[in-house]
Amino acid sequence: MEEMETPVTVVILAAGLGTRMKSRMAKVLHRAGGKTLIEHAVDTALEIAPADRIFVVVGHQADRVRAAISTPGIGFIEQTEQLGTGHALLVGREILSKLDGYLAIVYGDGPLLRAATVRRLIETLQSSDAAGALLSADMPDPTGYGRVIRSVDEIVKTIVEQKAASPEQLLIREANMGIYCYRADLFWRHVDEMRPDNPAHEYYLTDMVAILGRAGHRVTAVKIDDARECLGINNRIELAEADRLLRERKANELMLAGVTIERPETISIDSGVQIGIDTVVEPFARILGSTRIGENCRIGASSVIEDSNIGDDVTIAPLTVVTNATLERGVKAGPFSRLRPGSHLAENSHVGNFVELKKTRLGAGAKANHLAYLGDAEIGAGANIGAGTITCNYDGAHKHPTRIGRGAFVGSNSTLVAPLVIGDGAYVAAGSVITGPVPADALGMGRARQVNKADWASKRRARSAAPVTANE
Ligand code: UD1
Ligand code: CA
Repeated sequence: MEEMETPVTVVILAAGLGTRMKSRMAKVLHRAGGKTLIEHAVDTALEIAPADRIFVVVGHQADRVRAAISTPGIGFIEQTEQLGTGHALLVGREILSKLDGYLAIVYGDGPLLRAATVRRLIETLQSSDAAGALLSADMPDPTGYGRVIRSVDEIVKTIVEQKAASPEQLLIREANMGIYCYRADLFWRHVDEMRPDNPAHEYYLTDMVAILGRAGHRVTAVKIDDARECLGINNRIELAEADRLLRERKANELMLAGVTIERPETISIDSGVQIGIDTVVEPFARILGSTRIGENCRIGASSVIEDSNIGDDVTIAPLTVVTNATLERGVKAGPFSRLRPGSHLAENSHVGNFVELKKTRLGAGAKANHLAYLGDAEIGAGANIGAGTITCNYDGAHKHPTRIGRGAFVGSNSTLVAPLVIGDGAYVAAGSVITGPVPADALGMGRARQVNKADWASKRRARSAAPVTANE
């Protein structure tokens, strides 16, 4: 057995409104990479600590922020007045100071932070006698960040905020990323020593570095190579940048795992998506939510697939929209198909251009290749649905089901008025309006019969005063 692991508490600071977002919605509720910013922070925290050791400091729109977190067991600390990053910890003192081990502090508006980086911070602390560790980065332009001030022997002395920094300190490129890990006992023993003695009259969490230093303890800095991992979202330009980086990260992960992505800079794949090897994703595809795609599929250009289950060997041709649907192995869909919630396409079935399905099960090998609306329908294996077929499933008040049997053949431009049952192997004549059941193996015809009137046209021409010439 390894040595007993010291427990870690993660506190996520998320009380700010984020004025620069110019939004009616709290900053951490905005989305990047398919999730709200707060969900990113919580998911990262869950890789570090169990839910009952994770606390979110909420303030602006506290109820909505709470509601955005679905994981049970996460704690919330209410900071009704935002008096600074240090104050955010002070308001949680009562609960948090009872928790031993390590105290990790992250931001709710930094969705790019990886759990591995926080773990590195914790491990650095674990293997040293320091009281705390913080993440820093050498930035080409650290404007706006607190600067890490080191003594001649490289020991971190203090953090100076941009506004309080001297001209010499402003030249320092090592910036504080705002991510910390402290020994909980030492942190809480000295937390009272923070004073709002700065122009903003705020409690600065950064002051803890100097406070612990004065008490004879050390805080180390762990440098990361790419400060973008700690990008804090302040405005919508940064939100777009974080979204781009998250999607780039996801695409790279998938490509390294065996998925071909053409022009990856054009596609959007949410972090929760899974894709099997040898699947090819064409440019501008959007694959969202909890979608799972099997092996050896093709996802056509500009298709949008959300919360759907796609088996192996499925081809989705360009410009197809799939929402909450299941496509089994070997299905071919699109181009220009719309598969709405509750669509289930069994093995090797096909839907083609301008075909819309809603709450409809298409049996194995069944085909609806052109221009159809199939809603609330159950279509048997091997059935063929002709171009222009419409299930009239809605009478203005209620939805009604349609059942079409195995191997049935529905002729083009049929109007199927539900509720309706068409038996196995039955035919429906093209252009029919079908309002009653068609028994198995029968032909259902619901249209006026064609009548040909012999010589009608020539007689009409003869009657007509002005001669009509051909081609006119
Ligand atoms: C902070 C650091 C700075 C660091 C930077 C990195 C301090 C004093 N400064 O500055 O050294 O370089 O982060 O991004 O800590 N929050 C609360 N309650 C509050 C105040 C803030 O929950 O009372 C939350 C905010 O919602 C935000 C996070 O804490 O998610 C950071 O606060 P912010 O005001 O953006 O800190 P910075 O000024 O960026
Ligand atoms: Ca900030």
